[in-house]
Amino acid sequence: MSEPVRVGVVGLGTVGSGVVRLLVESADHITRHAGRPIVVERGVVRDLEKPRDLPLAADRISTDIHDVSRDESISVAALLVGGLEPARSMAIDLLEHGKDVVTANKALLAEHGPELFDLARRKGRSIAFEAAVAGGIPIVAAIGECLAANRIESIRGILNGTSNFILSTMEEEGADYAEVLAAAQAAGYAEADPAMDVDGTDATQKLAILAHLAFGVWVPWADIPRTGIEQINQELMTYAAELGYRIRLVAVAARVDGRFAMRVSPSLVKIGTPLAETRGAYNAVSIVGDAVGRMFFHGLGAGQMPTASAVVADIIDTVVGRTAITFRTTGVLDTDSPAAQIAGVEMPERFFLRIPVRDQPGVLAGISGVLGRHGISIASLIQHESGTAGPVSLVIMTHACPPSAVQQALADIDASAAVEGRSVCLPVLDDWQPASRKAEA
Ligand SMILES: NC(=O)c1ccc[n+]([C@@H]2O[C@H](COP(=O)([O-])OP(=O)(O)OC[C@H]3O[C@@H](n4cnc5c(N)ncnc54)[C@H](OP(=O)(O)O)[C@@H]3O)[C@@H](O)[C@H]2O)c1
Repeated sequence: MSEPVRVGVVGLGTVGSGVVRLLVESADHITRHAGRPIVVERGVVRDLEKPRDLPLAADRISTDIHDVSRDESISVAALLVGGLEPARSMAIDLLEHGKDVVTANKALLAEHGPELFDLARRKGRSIAFEAAVAGGIPIVAAIGECLAANRIESIRGILNGTSNFILSTMEEEGADYAEVLAAAQAAGYAEADPAMDVDGTDATQKLAILAHLAFGVWVPWADIPRTGIEQINQELMTYAAELGYRIRLVAVAARVDGRFAMRVSPSLVKIGTPLAETRGAYNAVSIVGDAVGRMFFHGLGAGQMPTASAVVADIIDTVVGRTAITFRTTGVLDTDSPAAQIAGVEMPERFFLRIPVRDQPGVLAGISGVLGRHGISIASLIQHESGTAGPVSLVIMTHACPPSAVQQALADIDASAAVEGRSVCLPVLDDWQPASRKAEA
């Protein structure tokens, strides 16, 4: 039997303890795949007093990153501390001291990826990050390696389990956003501070990483337009269902006439299609490649063991040398990657509009007139009898049109005396097709 590979696990929280457990409990199986045993040599935490039920001796755990970075017997470090600092400094320290790094920290990669990958290259080391996007789903390997023969045309993903859990539970239980969020927090499905999940930040950071892998361009995540799910309510869900759709937070990146369009937004997805049937904390990614056609990936995008599954697979890949080869040959997160300007790139789509109008004569004609002036044609329209004195909802499904035309039209509509309150506009994801569909032709 070959010498064991010694690993340091920096961060023994939800993911880190799952990684230690998996490495210990599945040691035989992992040894078979890695060709040699992988042992956890050390763990690093913030608080030594915290009780931990782990198969790792207490004297192997410390609060000092140097216990991993300066230990020459350790060759691979799993960096499983969240946030930007001290995670960034820890990654630099580990790379500077010759460790290959495996991480699940998407915020770190989305913010400092090029800097860290550049350092890794200069040091002859690698960074693997399968767990950073869509948890247990092997989407990084799929795009970076398995689909390497393809020109990727588009990616559509449900990349945040918390927001998907909230939306699908609202839909199933007829409950309000605030009520479901509170229940999800109480059950531990949502963080005490879920802001980055529900406002789309987390999904946007993951989209920036996936888009880089797919298109070879680098777009700072903060440049990607994002809308969260806070405005989604039962009324919108009911109208969507009446039209045959569900609402999901979908991250989209697509080639449009040689440029790239990207955004994260609550979107209408057709009932019966895979994205619409993705429920609870599940993640899903739909990819179109020019040779392979449309592919669909579905699985748990977070949680202790699904995420640990991806981290340990990366550790095995690093141990056998696969990561180093991919890292060297693919130029992942290379500082030379061209930056893509996504501002102003229009992806014509259909839109679902919910306009709160006064129940008075001539309103409908006025609104269809504004839409017409902006070149937007109406595919269908719903207005139910209200019976109350307040505004009524006018729901319009448009034909495909540029998003900027819809935004301008809605600004005019919302400013008119016939409208009381603000309209909601959600993209519809069934009509738009990528420019090149030779695989499906
Ligand atoms: N949880 C998931 O399902 C999931 C899924 C995909 C990706 N991720 C990503 O994985 C990473 C870890 O997430 P997690 O859920 O495991 O977080 P977590 O439960 O909060 O664990 C974080 C760990 O980092 C340690 N830590 C924090 N600051 C430290 C410091 N200054 N020095 C040393 N150790 C420090 C903590 O120590 P103490 O234990 O002493 O507090 C804890 O063990 C994050 O980047 C997250 O985005 C998580």
